[in-house]
Amino acid sequence: MSTYNITVLAGDGIGPEVVSQATRVFDKISQVNPSIKFNLIDKLFGGCAIDATGEPLPSDTLESCRSSDAVLMGSVGGPKWGPSSPIRPEQGILALRKSLNLFANIRPASFASDSLLAFTPLKEEVAIGTDVIILRELTGGIYFGKRQEADANGYAFDTMEYSKSEVERIARVAAELALSYNPPLPVHSIDKANVLATSRLWRKTVTELYAKEYPQLSLDHQYVDSASMFLVNNPRRLNGVALMENLFGDILSDEASVIPGALGLLPSSSLSAVPSKDKRTFGLHEPIGGSAPDIAGQGIANPVGTILSAALLLRYSLGLHAEAAAVELAVRRVLDDKQIGGHGLRTGDLGGSTKTVEFGNAVIEELGKALNSA
Ligand code: NAD
Ligand code: IPM
Ligand code: MN
Repeated sequence: MSTYNITVLAGDGIGPEVVSQATRVFDKISQVNPSIKFNLIDKLFGGCAIDATGEPLPSDTLESCRSSDAVLMGSVGGPKWGPSSPIRPEQGILALRKSLNLFANIRPASFASDSLLAFTPLKEEVAIGTDVIILRELTGGIYFGKRQEADANGYAFDTMEYSKSEVERIARVAAELALSYNPPLPVHSIDKANVLATSRLWRKTVTELYAKEYPQLSLDHQYVDSASMFLVNNPRRLNGVALMENLFGDILSDEASVIPGALGLLPSSSLSAVPSKDKRTFGLHEPIGGSAPDIAGQGIANPVGTILSAALLLRYSLGLHAEAAAVELAVRRVLDDKQIGGHGLRTGDLGGSTKTVEFGNAVIEELGKALNSA
C-alpha cells in the first residue's frame, strides 16, 4: 500500500471549478487500484487566502506544501485584488516558487489530439506537428532581481540578475528532459545575448556545459525576438526543448500555448530538481492559464489543462507512469471524436457547449476503462 500526500491549492476564479475535476482522477485511480491511496489536503492560497487571513500564502499553506509529495494548483488572482492592491495573489505565487525552490518550469505545447487542429489560430499546415516543450527558469531573473517601486519623481526599476550556477542547473534539466526521449530531443536555448549581459552569461554557460557534459545533444541558440516570430510562422522549428530565462518563458509560453488550440488545454509542472524516470521529484503542477475572471462561476471552464497537470503530477512527483499515461489517454479519447462514437466533447473555449463537470464525467469514465485495460 502506498499513500501519497497532495496539497491542493484550488485558488480563485475558475481554479476551484477545474481543480475539482482534476482531483477526481486520484479518486478513480484508488478505486481501480486500492493499494494506491491519495491524501488530498485543501489549503487556502491567493485571493481567497488574502480575504480569509490577510496574506496570499499563509504559513500553514506553505508548510503543507513542503511536507507533501506534490502540489496541485488551480489559479489565483482576479479584479478584486488588481495591480493597485497593496497585497496581491501573484505575490503568493512568487513566494511559493521561491520558498519551494521550484526553479524548473516545464510547459509543453503540443496537440492533445489531432482533432484540435481546427482550433489553432495559425494556418493548419503551419501549426501541424507543433511539439515544443518550453522550459522556463522560474526562480531568478527580473522577477526576483533588485526592484524599486515608483518614487516621488516617477522613477522605478526592476533588475535582471543570473548567476552561473542558476543557469547551469536549469540547462541540466533541459538536457535530461531532452535525453528522456528516444531519440533525444534537440535543445534550443533562447536569449537576448546581443543586448543583455545576463544573456551572454546564459549563452556561454549553456555552451560550455553541453560541450563538457552533453556533447551528444543537438544545441542551438536563438534570440528571443526571432524565436517569438518562429512560433507563429514555423513553430516546428522550435520542436524539442526550448530553454529560456524567467520573463522570456512567461511571454513565449502564453504565445506557444494557444497554437495547439486554446490556453485552457495545457498543463505545466514546476520542479525543484532534475526529473528522472527512476526517482520522484517534488513539484507544483498547474494549468498554464489564469483564473479567467471573465468566465468564472459559470461552470464552463475547460478542465483539460488541470487534468493533464494531474497527469504530470502522477508522472514526475509520484513516479506513477502508467497511471499518468492512462489519464492522458482518457483526455485524448474524450477530445477525439473518432474514438467515442462521434461524440468528442468541447468546452466553450473550443466552440462547444460541454460544461466543465460533464467533461470531467467523460474523462473519469474513459479513465476507468484505460486503467482496467492497462
Ligand atoms: P487568464 O489566463 O486568466 O485568461 C485569459 C483568457 O483565457 C480569458 O479569456 C479566459 O477566459 C481564457 N481561459 C483561461 N483559462 C481557461 C480555461 N481553463 N477554460 C476556458 N478559458 C480559459 O489571463 P488574465 O485574464 O490575463 O489573468 C486573470 C488573472 O489570473 C490575473 O489576476 C492574473 O495575474 C492571474 N494569472 C494567474 C496565473 C496562475 O495562477 N498561475 C497564471 C496566469 C494569470
Ligand atoms: C504564469 C503567470 C505568473 C507569472 C503571474 C501570475 C505571477 O503569468 O504563471 O505564467 O508571471 O509567472
Ligand atoms: Mn504567464
